[in-house]
Amino acid sequence: MKVLTNVSLKPYNTFGIDVSARKLVEVTSVEELREVLKNMYASELLILGGGSNMLLTKDVKQTVIYINLKGREILEETEDEVVVQAMAGENWHEFVLFCINKGFGGLENLSLIPGKVGTAPIQNIGAYGVELKDSFVSCTAMDLQTLQLKTFSREECRFGYRDSIFKNEAKGKYIITSVSFRLHKRDHELNTSYGSIDQYLEEQGVKNPTIGDVSKAVISIRQSKLPDPRELGNSGSFFKNPVVSKETLKELQQEFPEIPFYEIDEDHVKVPAGWLIDRAGLKGFREGDAGVHKKQALVLVNYGNATGQEILALSGKIQQKIKEMFGIEIIPEVNII
Ligand code: EPU
Repeated sequence: MKVLTNVSLKPYNTFGIDVSARKLVEVTSVEELREVLKNMYASELLILGGGSNMLLTKDVKQTVIYINLKGREILEETEDEVVVQAMAGENWHEFVLFCINKGFGGLENLSLIPGKVGTAPIQNIGAYGVELKDSFVSCTAMDLQTLQLKTFSREECRFGYRDSIFKNEAKGKYIITSVSFRLHKRDHELNTSYGSIDQYLEEQGVKNPTIGDVSKAVISIRQSKLPDPRELGNSGSFFKNPVVSKETLKELQQEFPEIPFYEIDEDHVKVPAGWLIDRAGLKGFREGDAGVHKKQALVLVNYGNATGQEILALSGKIQQKIKEMFGIEIIPEVNII
C-alpha cells in the first residue's frame, strides 16, 4: 500500500487537469483495499481507476483510492469458448491485446479505449458496433458498507447505452475489483458492419479478416480521429449522443436534411452529438487552453493548462448553443467531480 499526501492528480486523469488531493492511497490487493476502507465512510472517498472518464473541477478533499489491482486468469475453457477474468487495475487495451494474442474473439472492436478494466462496466464502454455487455459475464465488487465482495451478473448490472447500475442505484456503494468475459475460441462472428471498419479492411486488401485485423482497423480509425491523451489531454467523447423522438427528427430534417441518425426503437433515434456540435460551427473552437477537438467535435481537449472549470464552462456554452440551434439537450457522459 502506498500513501501520498498533497499530491497533484495530473498524472492520474487523462484530461491532464492539475488539481491536488490531500491524500492518495494506492491499493494493490483486495485485502489492502478492505484494510483502507475499514475506517472510512463512502462519502470520504474518491475512487480512481484510469481517470479516463472524469473531469476534475476542484481540489479533492476526500481520500483518493487508486485501484491498482493486477492479474488475469482463465476461469473456464472449452473447445469453443473461454471465460477470462481481469483485475480492475489492468489497463483495458493491454487486456484486449492479451485476449487477441491468445486468439480469443469478442473484445477486438473495443481496442485502444483508454482506461482500466474495473471502470469499463460502469459506463458499459462501447465502440464500432460492440459494447462491453456483449461479452460480459460478471464482475466482483466490494460493498463499501459491509466490505464483503459481491458478484454482479450481466442482468444485475442493467447495462444500457453508456450506462449501468453503477451509475444509478449502486453509485458510490461499490468498488469493482474484477471483471470476467466470455470470449470465443472458434466460430467467432466478427462485427465489421460499422462502416469505416469494412472500408479500412477493403483498402488494406484484407479478404478474410482475423480478430487481429479488426483490432488493427479499429486502432487505425481511432488514431485518425481521437487524440492520444498522452499528447493532448481529453476524456474521449465528452457528451452522450442524444436520443430524440422520430417526430423531433422529422422537424429537424426540414431544416437539416443531411442530419445523421441511428434507429433505437420504433419511436426513437440517436443523433450524433459530434455532428450537432460540428454543424453549430464549434469544431476546433478554442478558449484559452480548453477546446473542441479539430478532428472530432464530440471530444473536448486540454491544450496544456486548462482548468476543469474552464473545460466545464466550455461544455456549458456548447450545450447552450446546441439547445438554441436544434432544441436538443446534450448531457455529458464524463463524470464531473
Ligand atoms: N460527426 C461529424 N463531425 C464530427 C464528429 C462526428 O459530422 O466532428 C458525424 C460523423 O460523420 C458520423 C457521426 O457524426 O456521421 C458519428 O461519428 P463517429 O462515428 O465518430 O461516432 P460518435 O457517435 O461521435 C461514438 C462513441 C465513441 C465511439 C464511436 C465509434 C458516444 C458518446 N461516443 O462516437 O466512443 O468510439 O461512436 O463507435 O457514443 C467514447 O465514448 O469516449 C467514445 C470515443
